[in-house]
Amino acid sequence: MNQPVMEGLRLNVPAYVKHQRLIAWVAEIAALTEAKDVYWCDGSQEEYDRLCQQLVDAGTFQKLNPAKRPNSYLAWSDPSDVARVEDRTFICTDRKEDAGPTNNWMAPQDMRELLQTGDQALFKGAMRGRTLYVVPFSMGPIGSPIAHIGVELSDSPYVAVNMRIMTRMGRAVLNVLGDNGEFVPCVHTVGAPLEAGQADVKWPCNKTKYIVHYPATREIWSYGSGYGGNALLGKKCFALRIASTMGRDQGWLAEHMLILGVTSPEGKKHHVAAAFPSACGKTNFAMLIPPQGFEGWKVTTIGDDIAWIKPGQDGRLYAINPEAGYFGVAPGTNALTNPNCMASLNKDVIFTNVALTDDGDVWWEGMTDTPPAHLVDWQGNDWTPEIAKATGAKAAHPNARFTVSAVNNPALDADWDNPAGVPIDAFIFGGRRSTTVPLVTEARDWVEGVYMAATMGSETTAAAAGQQGVVRRDPFAMLPFMGYNMSDYFRHWLDLGAKLSQSGAKLPKIFCVNWFRKGADGKFVWPGYGENMRVLKWMLERVEGQGRGEEHAFGTSPRYEDLNWQGLAFTPEQFHTVTHISDSDWAAELKLHDELFTQLAYNLPAELPATKARIETRLAAKA
Ligand code: GTP
Ligand code: SPV
Ligand code: MN
Repeated sequence: MNQPVMEGLRLNVPAYVKHQRLIAWVAEIAALTEAKDVYWCDGSQEEYDRLCQQLVDAGTFQKLNPAKRPNSYLAWSDPSDVARVEDRTFICTDRKEDAGPTNNWMAPQDMRELLQTGDQALFKGAMRGRTLYVVPFSMGPIGSPIAHIGVELSDSPYVAVNMRIMTRMGRAVLNVLGDNGEFVPCVHTVGAPLEAGQADVKWPCNKTKYIVHYPATREIWSYGSGYGGNALLGKKCFALRIASTMGRDQGWLAEHMLILGVTSPEGKKHHVAAAFPSACGKTNFAMLIPPQGFEGWKVTTIGDDIAWIKPGQDGRLYAINPEAGYFGVAPGTNALTNPNCMASLNKDVIFTNVALTDDGDVWWEGMTDTPPAHLVDWQGNDWTPEIAKATGAKAAHPNARFTVSAVNNPALDADWDNPAGVPIDAFIFGGRRSTTVPLVTEARDWVEGVYMAATMGSETTAAAAGQQGVVRRDPFAMLPFMGYNMSDYFRHWLDLGAKLSQSGAKLPKIFCVNWFRKGADGKFVWPGYGENMRVLKWMLERVEGQGRGEEHAFGTSPRYEDLNWQGLAFTPEQFHTVTHISDSDWAAELKLHDELFTQLAYNLPAELPATKARIETRLAAKA
């Protein structure tokens, strides 16, 4: 009964799998996609090593020099499959309004026809010649009341091994699922069926891509890409897009936020959660090492990308990291800016799209001041500093990434997988803005904080396909990850704040930061990285009701003398460059807020335009 045999295909169901609905679904997808066979991942080390070896044999992985980088691999993707594809990402709700104007939408029936049921449906036969991997995973500690389970069916062994690092994956998850537990079904194919006798390529994918979410049935269907958030479906698809709709319905938050702990020399600990858009500094901030002048301070990592946040019995907000690993940006990471990250990468890493050194190790732009004399770049071509100068060729793709387990991080917080989560004292929102937005501002209250987060802008990065460096509104750093209508999401934040404050709880303070202001020479003025501790400490002083600052139209910011400058030469003039508020810049900026509100007019909470009006009154009064 546990071993249904389909025509020509054994489902290979292990004896420990008791979940008939799961087995029936695997059979259905295997039949639809015409997979060659089915393999159930148990999550063991032996299995991981075996699949990695299989990827080496297939040419997808190169094993790195074990003397330099033990148990680590390098994958080079197809040059067309290097980042999330936002224009191919869909939220399929019955009503278009429920996906909202910031999401691509298609009616569920139409999308199902395109993907599953139509004559030419993309998933029909999509796994021909390939193994279907059953990847059971838990977002959050296995068995914890806040965790949620998903099962990804994928024809990519690269996905299977990455999911083992990024999530709690394997047999233990199926044990928790029992014979009838709930799971989020995730179907993934690279969309490259192999006909008999056809040789495989090292990174199969398809020009056509669909990253599809059905919030009502909590399903995810992903076609055509093998990369990152397009393919590792526990991450952005489940833990943000699907989970955000679960949070809306159940009274919690799924956010694109790092979570960190800060311990003072006196031993007092705070926790903050910070939302920065993709490739804008979450992993770096989460692993921060306090600089000179901050002796005795300690920062520890709970999570680096995603937070699930729920009100606790005491009315405070508690956050957990649903992930178990980091899928982080390699370029720009080095021993000076992020030593904790570099130490995390010493062993047991999967690198994707970085360069290969002649001694079998990895390199990327920004890793060392002086690049090696010769490399093989992420596209497999010879690379030298001279070639780079002449052609501009990058050794690593700007969105090259590492996949590594959280337990490799020397700064991992003792509570990182505490099922109860950690209580949040402050929320931080930050964009990448070369102008306009000051280093740090504390919002006057929850509503004004929601306004700041909702109207946040950021310059686009290589984390998503498309034009880079253009400022776009990225509310809450969630623009690409919202599973429902953005205005309804603002409402959800406002309502949660109102509910918590009515219960008498102390709400987290809300801050807005910008590490990325540039000077006339086009260079970043703020040193960033570890030096961000100076700003973090001020924020915690404000949480404690101590920090001093200056009130202005948007909230409160520190004056030069309100920050600790011990150990850093940073002049009042430089401070002015990163903090000053230009009237003309802000007149232009507020017009962009207007544009956003026009776009989001349907269900836009009245509190937001009202806050804007208050800010304008304050600005006018100042003038
Ligand atoms: P995702 O994984 O895409 O969500 O990115 P992330 O938000 O975790 O960004 P990450 O910390 O990986 O940083 C992305 C890039 O920004 C890297 O090249 C970093 O070196 C750079 N960066 C991070 N923090 C700072 C900072 O404080 N100042 C400056 N100038 N650059 C930074
Ligand atoms: C991001 O783009 O925000 C990432 C990488 O963290 S991905 O997993 O591809 O979404
Ligand atoms: Mn991210």
